[in-house]
Amino acid sequence: MSNVNDVKVQLELDEMPKKWYNILADIKSEFPPYLNPATKEPIPAEALMGLFPKECVKQELSEERYISIPDELLEHYYRLGRPSPLYRAKHLEQKLNTPAIIFFKREDLSPTGSHKPNTAIAQAYYAAKEGVTNLSTETGAGQWGSALAYSCAMVGIKCTVFMVRCSYDQKPYRKYIMKILGADVYASPSDKTEYGRSLLAKDPNHPGSLGIAISEAIEMAVKNADTKYTLGSVLNYVLLHQTVIGQELIAQMNKLDLIPDYLIGCVGGGSNFAGFSFPYLGQILRGELSSPEVLAVEPVACPSLTKGEYRYDFGDTAKTTPLIKMYTLGCDFIPPSIHAGGLRYHGAAPTISLLKNEGFIKSVAYPQEQIFQCAKLFAESEGLIPAPETSHAICAAIDLAKEAKKKNERKVIVFNYSGHGLLDLEGYRSILKLD
Ligand SMILES: Cc1ncc(COP(=O)(O)O)c(C=O)c1O
Repeated sequence: MSNVNDVKVQLELDEMPKKWYNILADIKSEFPPYLNPATKEPIPAEALMGLFPKECVKQELSEERYISIPDELLEHYYRLGRPSPLYRAKHLEQKLNTPAIIFFKREDLSPTGSHKPNTAIAQAYYAAKEGVTNLSTETGAGQWGSALAYSCAMVGIKCTVFMVRCSYDQKPYRKYIMKILGADVYASPSDKTEYGRSLLAKDPNHPGSLGIAISEAIEMAVKNADTKYTLGSVLNYVLLHQTVIGQELIAQMNKLDLIPDYLIGCVGGGSNFAGFSFPYLGQILRGELSSPEVLAVEPVACPSLTKGEYRYDFGDTAKTTPLIKMYTLGCDFIPPSIHAGGLRYHGAAPTISLLKNEGFIKSVAYPQEQIFQCAKLFAESEGLIPAPETSHAICAAIDLAKEAKKKNERKVIVFNYSGHGLLDLEGYRSILKLD
């Protein structure tokens, strides 16, 4: 039995979700289709199947509420450390002297240190089953690239990663992880693609962006018959795979007999946030619950949901993707080189965008200095060093806990601890002036 005073709520192996939850089944309004940029007509599934593993495309377009997780993948999830524990941030509560109760879901415990393997392993598994021998992808901070490198190694296929140049330089250890796991890793823009070469010709020191790295990875997949492209965020099937997080969270909160007042997650493309919050949001959409309030947190340097426009835009910078209806800062927006590389994306997942537009999701943005201060307070309190991306969620949780203190309310605040920051220490050093 668990109770609210426990510091850790653990599920048994047989309590791990056996299905992914598809929020499209519960969104009342129509999901805006992906459009062919030339004709503005919806893209047919077959066109997407040329680029992505076929099973992923089927899931992308599915309206089934639940999709079964194959047994082999469940075994991979066990290996990744699932079900992941829910922790209570008791020391942080004490430091803040707040009546609020703060929980965080540990998605930093996978072999590569973040939530990203939850979908990477599924994508690699389906690709290998379909006879694909190489997966190409982009990565920002390197978390997604490491997750895919790990997953390709587990299923025995090749992995090629285009890593945003400023992160490639800021976080050298992540590229070593990918290389140790057998992946080819290139700083993007790179000389490996026509698009990369065209950008380097204009600016040899181009810092890169996720949008550019996506363009390069797509170009590689389009030009090589043995290669398919995979994405670590944004698309429906990616968010779907992450819903193991939120389903576990519901089981853990049920053990405590609590319903969160707030769910908080950082948003780059939106996969950890969606995976964490969609199962509860589904209950709200079905009219079974009226809370929690769901808060997406972004950097001030790249506030797609907070400051962007809700419209059709390209998912990448070279304009090679279908048009996606989403909150966007414009596909040619190149964010400053902040340390939260995984949040430097000009858009946001179309499902999150739709739910934000309909008022089911709120968003807020924090500046870089503040998120590192929050990360330090969290580390001093709980003994864990969060990823800069994750620290955005921590900042919002701290602010809500302070508000609860002012109003003397016992709010239940839960955030997703999307990854550890043990390979982000250079960011801590430079922003917190540690030397
Ligand atoms: C630790 C961590 N959190 C969050 C993100 C943001 O991605 P998403 O919005 O898809 O969860 C990343 C992306 O690299 C990440 O590494």
